[in-house]
Amino acid sequence: MKIRKAVIPAAGFGTRFLPLTKSMPKEMLPILNKPVIHHVVEEAVRSGIKEILIITATGKRAIEDYFDHNADLENHLTKKNKSKEIEEINIFGDDVSIHFIRQKEQKGLGHAISMAKCFVGDEPFVVLLGDDIIKSNTQKHATKQMIDVYDKKKCPIIGVEKVPDEKIESYGIVDGDKIEENLYLVKNMVEKPCKKDAPSNIGIIGRYVLIPEIFECIAQVKPGAGGEIQLTDALCILNKKEKIHAFVFDGKRYDTGSVEGWLKTNIEYACDDECMKKRMKLHELIK
Ligand code: UTP
Repeated sequence: MKIRKAVIPAAGFGTRFLPLTKSMPKEMLPILNKPVIHHVVEEAVRSGIKEILIITATGKRAIEDYFDHNADLENHLTKKNKSKEIEEINIFGDDVSIHFIRQKEQKGLGHAISMAKCFVGDEPFVVLLGDDIIKSNTQKHATKQMIDVYDKKKCPIIGVEKVPDEKIESYGIVDGDKIEENLYLVKNMVEKPCKKDAPSNIGIIGRYVLIPEIFECIAQVKPGAGGEIQLTDALCILNKKEKIHAFVFDGKRYDTGSVEGWLKTNIEYACDDECMKKRMKLHELIK
């Protein structure tokens, strides 16, 4: 079945960004002039997705407003003949539908994804974490690369990358057999292991192709690492019945969920943008 739907969990508390996240979603932090979640939705849309569900929570209203139509602003820009700006605020066109649902209690990523059960129905779907941006090295976005792997293998795919030893404790880690360049057959997964217990340094990052059977598996998961309902634990249950592949996507991933990660993303995006680079030179930010 063709993949048409994406789920974007963006309900987390964002404690690494406190005190800012007390009143502002980290997904609305700017990467240059666009919020993080704009880049994530754009990747989904450019990968052929037409139906998107964003999981939000109390205090995340700004995300809903961002993707809504703003008639007053549009009228104002029309009066001022600002056609370029009008184009910029009408973000993804009418053939893309963006829906929202609230996770009432932030019980973890697995729990957040369970909110999407009705939206997903009986179709395979992609998940893109709302604070992970992937800049692709080619024309093909990471999500599209993963959909293509799914179309060949017809089983769930998890996006992975090699992580440095000192960061192993922050990731779900895959134990798998390499079966092709950039593709592993998953044997097991461990959420946030200490380095000595980690089966590899292949870390799960914020992109997945999942099948509806994942919802039954999430329902069986007991709170794990950090007291949360972990998606990795649900994937381990699913892996008992279904093959799962781990795919090393072609692209550069930015975790914008920490202050240093967000800063790094902005600096690199600015340095990659010729116009912004000139402005930074003018202000003596770079040579
Ligand atoms: P993180 O692990 O980054 O957690 O979640 P967090 O709460 O957002 O941030 P920190 O660690 O406290 O700083 C990964 C993704 O899962 C979503 C987050 O919004 C993020 O996109 N998430 C996490 C939920 O949607 N609900 C949750 O209960 C937890």
